[in-house]
Amino acid sequence: AKEPVRVLVTGAAGQIGYALVPMIARGVMLGADQPVILHMLDIPPAAEALNGVKMELVDAAFPLLKGVVATTDVVEACAGVNIAVMVGGFPRKEGMERKDVMSKNVAIYKSQASALEKYAAANCKVLVVANPANTNALILKEFAPSISEKNITCLTRLDHNRALGQISERLNVPVSDVKNVIIWGNHSSTQYPDVNHATVKTLAGDKPVRELVNDDAWLDAEFITTVQQRGAAIIKARKLSSALSAASSACDHIRDWVLGTPEGTWVSMGVYSDGSYNVPAGLVYSFPVTCCNGEWTIVQGLAINEFSRKKLDATAEELSEEKALAYSCLS
Ligand code: NAI
Repeated sequence: AKEPVRVLVTGAAGQIGYALVPMIARGVMLGADQPVILHMLDIPPAAEALNGVKMELVDAAFPLLKGVVATTDVVEACAGVNIAVMVGGFPRKEGMERKDVMSKNVAIYKSQASALEKYAAANCKVLVVANPANTNALILKEFAPSISEKNITCLTRLDHNRALGQISERLNVPVSDVKNVIIWGNHSSTQYPDVNHATVKTLAGDKPVRELVNDDAWLDAEFITTVQQRGAAIIKARKLSSALSAASSACDHIRDWVLGTPEGTWVSMGVYSDGSYNVPAGLVYSFPVTCCNGEWTIVQGLAINEFSRKKLDATAEELSEEKALAYSCLS
């Protein structure tokens, strides 16, 4: 039998946490033959709710779930974890300045970086979900220098999946037949959902999405804004932010990272830029990646047209500004 993997979820008493922990306990994230021990962290005001989630995990009698740690102590939460999904953060409240929200999250991610560095298992893989996701991941990377930059990522898989979903709806094809969309850049409204390399499986082989949709005006405008603003549309409809799709996409992100992407398929992940595609090095930026043996690699050599270039640069520009804002909060 396999040894259990320890998975940390921060902000586990929140909305996404509530959707995510049962998926992990069911084997959705790491596979149906992989036992897990869940570590759940939240802050003292949420301690009682967190304990309620723990009670439900016990009550659900998940066969793969070999233990649950529910705590408000960051050291206990991080001890020995192999995977860390960082969902906890300080939300933007009405009337708050961007700088104030950034400053709260920078403080949280700085201290959690130190705890992970000291207490997590060697080679722990980190996924940051909480917003501003790319910049929180960057702060985490900077303050956990002994964790490889290869092991610190942020979630743009939800945006990637949203793009697949839009194409599937438009063409009335199964979403599993659509692949290789790309989300470039920031998990924000400046992200660039790019279909120029995306394909759909047909009886006559894989066909370009552009050819099948046959409506460049839609692809270059409405499709892009729909994906960029899908989060806001969910909030408007549900009066709460997207939680089940965020949780499911977080599982997709970790599963593909650990178990590998299928041959010929890439996914989008926020990763530390090495300067690929002339994206400034030193930003956490969403790229197309393939994964093998637990490591991601940025897909190289894709042609970038002028339309795309502008959009890649605009979202990089926003991330550089966010980085500067984050650093100004540190001093
Ligand atoms: P939520 O407010 O329901 O839950 C957040 C939880 O984090 C709360 O239980 C809170 O007590 C906890 N928390 C706050 N500070 C903490 C700290 N220092 N340590 C540990 N826990 C802490 O929010 P929800 O809906 O679950 O969303 C969580 C985050 O995910 C938000 O930042 C949201 O913007 C982001 N998000 C990101 C997405 C992505 O695709 N990257 C998609 C959807 C949401």
